[in-house]
Amino acid sequence: VRPGDPARPAARNSGSLLVDNIGELVTNDARPGDPLGLRRDAAVLVEDGEVAWVGPARDAPAADRRLDAQGAAVLPGFVDSHAHLVFAGDRAAEFAARMAGEPYTGGGIRTTVGATRAATDGQLRATVGRLRAEAMRQGTTTIEIKSGYGLTVADEARSLRIAAEFSEDTTFLGAHVVPAEYAHRPDDYVGMVCGPMLAAAAPYARWIDVFCERGAFDVDHARAILACGQAAGLGVRLHANQLGPGPGVRLGVELGAASVDHCTHLSDADVDALAGSTTVATLLPGAEFSTRSPYPDARRLLDAGVTVALATDCNPGSSYTSSMPFCVALAVREMRMTPAEAVWAATAGGAAALRRTDVGRLARGARADLMILDAPSHLHLAYRPGVPLIRQVLHNGAPQCP
Ligand code: NIG
Ligand code: FE
Repeated sequence: VRPGDPARPAARNSGSLLVDNIGELVTNDARPGDPLGLRRDAAVLVEDGEVAWVGPARDAPAADRRLDAQGAAVLPGFVDSHAHLVFAGDRAAEFAARMAGEPYTGGGIRTTVGATRAATDGQLRATVGRLRAEAMRQGTTTIEIKSGYGLTVADEARSLRIAAEFSEDTTFLGAHVVPAEYAHRPDDYVGMVCGPMLAAAAPYARWIDVFCERGAFDVDHARAILACGQAAGLGVRLHANQLGPGPGVRLGVELGAASVDHCTHLSDADVDALAGSTTVATLLPGAEFSTRSPYPDARRLLDAGVTVALATDCNPGSSYTSSMPFCVALAVREMRMTPAEAVWAATAGGAAALRRTDVGRLARGARADLMILDAPSHLHLAYRPGVPLIRQVLHNGAPQCP
């Protein structure tokens, strides 16, 4: 940088940072045939935590500091729009049993509920912080965090209070399963979720979610709970069609959900409903990996014109990974997404699933959330699976510790 160079416009104020020598920049500013809005030999100016300028390196404005990308690829930070980080314990033995042939039923959720209720606030906070940091090291700069392992008024409220310390996108999932103490009176549990539990949770939540599935909540209970959440000002998202076909996806579309998540078992009517809506289909291939289940058919959704997001579903039961690069690689290898589609889905797609326009793209005015790869191209995220390719992450313009 040449701060006093009169040929360059001066950076507006101190603290500006120029990321330059970028070999390939993913902007997500789509052009025909170029969904990622790729630019070569680009630079990005960061000021006050935002992207202030994007353009060819030769036209870059002066800045106070410079970050040399050394010809590598630079992408928007990943937007992980589906994660269950507030829990205690793990279920490694359940995973091992599945790998020996046991099916996944969601029944283990109650094991985690017991451990979560028994944990202190400090223990829960430490787990969320550890997983948040783990995700950040892998390029995730935005992460949605759900409750759903407390399932009492107090435990759901504290789960969300802790989640809100780490994320703007917190989701009330009091309707994850019916807890054991309500097993014989599910209607009473639904009444409690819609009443005192929602009242205690809503101040800390942006979204409401329901696990709409055989063995969890049926469509009538899900509709009632989501309607209460909407009336309390929360946005709607839901877990749907994960373990089998069902009405969840169409319920989400009917209610104008921002996203329906899993979408593993879809009918033609489900795909048509999604295609005619603004609801994003969020695919969670870490869950199919960890439950050894068939992957969702991303190609069918994309070819129908559905907006697809990718997320980790990070949780101790069905998908204990915080790695968006792993999900991108799975989506490309196992779900017939192109590398460009998968990278878009993991960044701009996640932003769409959270109805956010400030993240998931690199353009003037966006939040300065980006990652520099140890690779020349976004293709390497799927081409080099399992390799730590994230060299540096900026979050709100601030370099994160590697
Ligand atoms: O998204 N499907 C429901 N909830 C989680 C799994 C939770 C668990 O098994 O603990 C999911 O896969
Ligand atoms: Fe989930």
